[in-house]
Amino acid sequence: MQTKRWNVNKSNNQKNYRENIAEAALWLKAGKVVAFPTETVYGLGGNIMDDDAVKAIFQAKGRPNDNPLIVHIARREQLNALVSEIPPAAKELMDAYWPGPLTLIFKASKNVSAAVTAGLETVAVRMPAHPVAYDLLLEADVPVAAPSANLSGRPSPTTADHVWDDLEGRIAGVLDGGTTGVGLESTVLDVSGESPVIYRPGGLTFEQIAEIVGHVEVDPALLSESETPKSPGMKYTHYAPKGSLTLVRDNNDIPELVAQARNEGHRVGVLTTEQRKQSYDCDFAFACGSDDDLLSTAAQLYTGLRQFDTEQIDVIYSEVFPEHGVGIAIMNRLRKAAGGRIV
Ligand code: TXA
Ligand code: MG
Repeated sequence: MQTKRWNVNKSNNQKNYRENIAEAALWLKAGKVVAFPTETVYGLGGNIMDDDAVKAIFQAKGRPNDNPLIVHIARREQLNALVSEIPPAAKELMDAYWPGPLTLIFKASKNVSAAVTAGLETVAVRMPAHPVAYDLLLEADVPVAAPSANLSGRPSPTTADHVWDDLEGRIAGVLDGGTTGVGLESTVLDVSGESPVIYRPGGLTFEQIAEIVGHVEVDPALLSESETPKSPGMKYTHYAPKGSLTLVRDNNDIPELVAQARNEGHRVGVLTTEQRKQSYDCDFAFACGSDDDLLSTAAQLYTGLRQFDTEQIDVIYSEVFPEHGVGIAIMNRLRKAAGGRIV
């Protein structure tokens, strides 16, 4: 399959922008699978009214069938056809944070196909805060199922080039809107039960959710390896670079670990920040943002993980990051990428 690439960067002139969005929207509506930028990561969209389109998403990504998709909408009214109930806490959260990096899990209405929910009785919905996503969803005028637009197991894409590297030839097209903002996926929050439960930490912080709903729980699987995650996608090894990644609690231990691995003949990389990039004697150091700005680390993380592949690094050591705010999501992704290895 030939994959089309539309330029929808802001620098693009208005007429081309409109035409490109219109064509991509038409393709989506017609059942083709199209990647588009959101404020978190690029998504791989398909019309939820078309089971073949939804199946094509799973096929293009090589995604396990038991992993449900998030439905993306541009207007709040679209929610009514998707869910059987909108709890008061969900209303308050949507008022506060939609559009934005918050995915809510509702009891699903009967209209939603099992191809989207993987047969669950709930459905995940979000309203992305990105002008291209908004314009596309509005123009297509159908709810769009969209997982992250990477091959299953690879780091999520934060640029159209990342999408291209993984999916060129496997999807109909990609809207290139430049680099995404947050750089990590949305926070997944279940609002279908008694009290809200975080299934996946993400771009919207625990603190921001608690501010609105007061009490918020966390899926026990996020705290202990022995629990089964409530969100099917959380049980897979994700975000993994090709080299073997180990997290290191104390930065002072990194130089010796690096020296040892290099002696063994490996190409060794370090994931650090601007402050210490120069201080490691390794084959490739990636500055993942700055110590004084966790958001900059989130924005760079997946580019960094992919960069180690490009540089053909086979052993990677990563610093750890403070676990507050978006740092909780950063460390969640890093732990998964490292398969739990931490020294
Ligand atoms: O930021 C994002 O959320 C991006 C952009 C493209 O919107 N999308 C994304 O989708 O990260 P995906 O498919 O990579 O991750 C969706 C997560 C998976 O862990 C999946 O298991 C979970 O949401 N999920 C979806 N529906 C669910 C449901 N009904 N119950 C529990 N978990 C669900
Ligand atoms: Mg994903």
